[in-house]
Amino acid sequence: MEALKPFTHKNITLKNRIVMPPMCMYQAKDGFVNLFHISHYSTRAMGGVGFVIVEATAVTPQGRITDNDLGIWSDDHIAGLKQLVDEVHRYGAKIAVQLGHAGRKAQTTALPHIAPSELNFDDTYQTPDAMTLKDIQATISAFKAAALRADQAGFDGIELHGAHGYLINEFMSPLSNLREDEYGGTLENRGRFVCELIDSISTVWPQEKWLMIRVSAEEYDPLGNHPEDVVEILRPIKNKLDLIHVSSGGVVNRRIPLKPLYQVEYAKTIRHALNKIVISVGLITTPEEVEEALQDTDLVALGRELLRNPNFVNRIFATQDADQLFSSYKRAFK
Ligand SMILES: Cc1cc2nc3c(=O)[nH]c(=O)nc-3n(C[C@H](O)[C@H](O)[C@H](O)COP(=O)(O)O)c2cc1C
Repeated sequence: MEALKPFTHKNITLKNRIVMPPMCMYQAKDGFVNLFHISHYSTRAMGGVGFVIVEATAVTPQGRITDNDLGIWSDDHIAGLKQLVDEVHRYGAKIAVQLGHAGRKAQTTALPHIAPSELNFDDTYQTPDAMTLKDIQATISAFKAAALRADQAGFDGIELHGAHGYLINEFMSPLSNLREDEYGGTLENRGRFVCELIDSISTVWPQEKWLMIRVSAEEYDPLGNHPEDVVEILRPIKNKLDLIHVSSGGVVNRRIPLKPLYQVEYAKTIRHALNKIVISVGLITTPEEVEEALQDTDLVALGRELLRNPNFVNRIFATQDADQLFSSYKRAFK
């Protein structure tokens, strides 16, 4: 089975190709890891997942989606994140953290909410302040500082949240970015923020670890970005990226034609156009679908299925019998 084959890139080897994608759990207070997070992520690692990506973790307090998001804006967050990393490593999984800023989709009580343009997502969201050039530089610095903390916590990778209509995606999309300066307008200008961000982070992020981005490849609006636009935005920074995690939607409220494997075609397009390693995700829930996705993509993420069934890998793929599992737990605590 393709799913059970190890996967190596740089010096990091995943024991299989099943990924837990980032999923906000809204269980943190002041951004800190607590016992919920340790249990939640360790359980999926114990269940056999090869690669865990921790939920959107905010680089500033104002950049949280809610007041209960995880955070990485302070050195005080490092110890809890390190404990989380160590617990997940114990069970043989690798672990990355998704670095996020919610932009105009922030609903936290921390203010101000900022975005490329003074345009709200819909009437249930506050109208954000349009970012000044100073805000742009400060936000890039916040991501860079967060990357340094993620390294100190021992993460194997970082994933920039460039999908689902949050800040990075808001710069990329013509539907949310109406700027008339060098950060808006043409595709090159809309890509400037993410390019500067990756350039800046790559000066501090260790070469041997994975630098990843999650993107919304399709915005389901004729005037929005499509996979070929996202390819062109990422092209200038592709050599600095190790992996691209391909999702879709979330920039504006549009109907998404959902069906199993619906985003795999976007991942395939990006993989071929940029010749990069890609993770596919989205309504993949059975071993057969995992195998199908792996025909065109390198790694496969299962979100809600792993929430429902943390033992998906062990149960469905029966990688280890119960005695072997028990021995591996004993080894983990030696
Ligand atoms: C409860 C929940 C929280 C989520 N939070 C995040 C997040 O923090 N970052 C992100 O990029 N995607 C997030 N997502 C999207 C998932 O990572 C995934 O792409 C989506 O659920 C589709 O995959 P699935 O059909 O396997 O669940 C979330 C999804 C769910 C269900």
